[in-house]
Amino acid sequence: MKVLIFKSPEDATEAVAASLIGQVLDKPDASLGFATGGTAEPVYDLMVSAFEKGKVSFRKVRAFNLDEYIGLTPDHPMSYRCYMRRHLFDRTDFQPENTHIPKGDAQDPAVEAVRYEEEIDRSGGIDCQLLGIGENGHIGFNEPTSSLSSRTRVKTLARGTVEANSRFFDRIEDVPRLCITMGIATILGSRKCLLLATGKRKAGAVAKMIEGPLAAICPASALQMHSNAVICLDEAAAGELNLRAYYLDVHPDGKVAAL
Ligand code: PGA
Repeated sequence: MKVLIFKSPEDATEAVAASLIGQVLDKPDASLGFATGGTAEPVYDLMVSAFEKGKVSFRKVRAFNLDEYIGLTPDHPMSYRCYMRRHLFDRTDFQPENTHIPKGDAQDPAVEAVRYEEEIDRSGGIDCQLLGIGENGHIGFNEPTSSLSSRTRVKTLARGTVEANSRFFDRIEDVPRLCITMGIATILGSRKCLLLATGKRKAGAVAKMIEGPLAAICPASALQMHSNAVICLDEAAAGELNLRAYYLDVHPDGKVAAL
């Protein structure tokens, strides 16, 4: 694991956006895995800004999102399809046929989950998967006790996740309880994992992910098994790390030749 601690959330976010843009400059038809949530929004703003300045084109990029709520149609404003269109796809030159998100309104979500996993496989796999982390240590919607060898499937959201995500809905009752999510083994199959966490709220989960035991109770700890996982943190999210001084010694201010 490469643990990078930046002075501010803005610096961490910029480093993540620069890394994703760098992937596309190196390989214009790169396959990128995307995440939703509040932490990813400023990353997408920076990608949009680079596109608007003519620094990068996403025309050939293939996009695979981590997860989707079950029961929301793709045009529902709270669906992750809509989130991605609002924050990234409709503001850049992503080609709709290259953007993949599980279908939350599929007649049989279990069949849709298998289809999605196969779609990722057929495309040749994901070059770089962007990740956030939940306060309970989830990645994607792999809630605590998710199998570390899980593939894309239907999951039930943890109560805390429903509460955390209710800020995006009018009422907590409107938050779907079920989702389709890439599994932990699906995520580990990406050639690179790039996780961004900012703010004090995430400090406990971040410490368990990096320094805790490899355990399904903290799904993000599975990244300890990945040979190319980069964790980008601000000072607050790094606040509970025991080896903080060591990480800063290796990469002062999160600086590294290339993420
Ligand atoms: P957040 O979500 O960025 O909105 O905190 C991250 C996550 O739950 O994975």
